[in-house]
Amino acid sequence: SGEEQPNTDLITLTRHVLSDQFSLGAAATGDLTLLLTAIQTTSKFIATNVRKARLINLVGLAGETNVQGEEQKKLDVLSNDIMINSLRASGKCAVLVSEELEEAVVIEDRYKGKYCVVFDPLDGSSNIDAGVNIGTIFGIYHIAPGSKGTISDVLRPGSEMVAAGYTMYGSSANLVLSTGHGVNGYTLDASLGEFILTHPDIKIPSRGKIYSFNEGNSMYFHEPVVKYLNSIKYPANGKSPYSARYIGSMVADVHRTLLYGGIFGYPDDKKSKRGKLRLLYEAFPMAFLTEQAGGLATTGTKRILDIVPTNIHERCPVFLGSREDVLDLMKFYQEAE
Ligand code: AHG
Ligand code: MN
Ligand code: MN
Ligand code: MN
Repeated sequence: SGEEQPNTDLITLTRHVLSDQFSLGAAATGDLTLLLTAIQTTSKFIATNVRKARLINLVGLAGETNVQGEEQKKLDVLSNDIMINSLRASGKCAVLVSEELEEAVVIEDRYKGKYCVVFDPLDGSSNIDAGVNIGTIFGIYHIAPGSKGTISDVLRPGSEMVAAGYTMYGSSANLVLSTGHGVNGYTLDASLGEFILTHPDIKIPSRGKIYSFNEGNSMYFHEPVVKYLNSIKYPANGKSPYSARYIGSMVADVHRTLLYGGIFGYPDDKKSKRGKLRLLYEAFPMAFLTEQAGGLATTGTKRILDIVPTNIHERCPVFLGSREDVLDLMKFYQEAE
């Protein structure tokens, strides 16, 4: 056989989403594809700046505190700004919600479109200065019929999202996306400036061998969580204990969980009464992707995607991952009732 030739039939993210939309027939207008093009551009911009951060003085604090009481990093602010500017200019958005902005942004008429995007511009801020994987998380709603785009268009259950995804900035930039028909992963070919399909139809294993919790919070954990963790660390009848992996960037921990299986958790506890992760732009998109990959996402007692938000920045407990692992965890909550 001859030498390997370069692939001349590249499946870019845009090509892939477009063919997906074509298969839906008359309903598709191409608007979602254009919105996703804007999101891809922001991911390329952020990926480039993450890579150069140390060289161009982009590490460290920006000097402001966000509505969550967190000190913003320079990259949090830069990532938020590129997303707001790019999404507004796309002409496809009506409402934007960002972790870094206290109020939702309602797009002025001249640029107004039919979609709402909720996002965490830079996830894993605490890992930036150490060069550890970080990411961007997003969820997309279509405005309700007849709506001009108000806050009520984003105070809806996650199950009503039309798409969700994240980009992970690691050894490569990986964009993982679901438009409600399974999950696909794309890798940025930096020389082409295109996200290329590399992980078609991601399915999470039905059971894994890894757990991913910040166990430094153990003294605050409620009993079902403590008992569950003990059950996988000290398993009965000769089974092997689970391995611990916790990066502290939700994007990276969820990415590994989707590919390898296992369970990721950020519980509510005696100190963080509602947990830490934010419902709209962290829990919902990751729950959407997990379910689309065949896994489960729960608060311990209820399906995350069924929650009806009352506040754009509200928090919620999160357990997600392999179906059987999440069901095991839920049993400890059922016993506690
Ligand atoms: P962000 O950097 O967007 O504020 O999110 C941080 C989140 C999430 O990425 C991660 O899963 C979690 O915080 C880690 O929290 P701990 O440091 O408390 O473990
Ligand atoms: Mn933050
Ligand atoms: Mn985050
Ligand atoms: Mn963030």
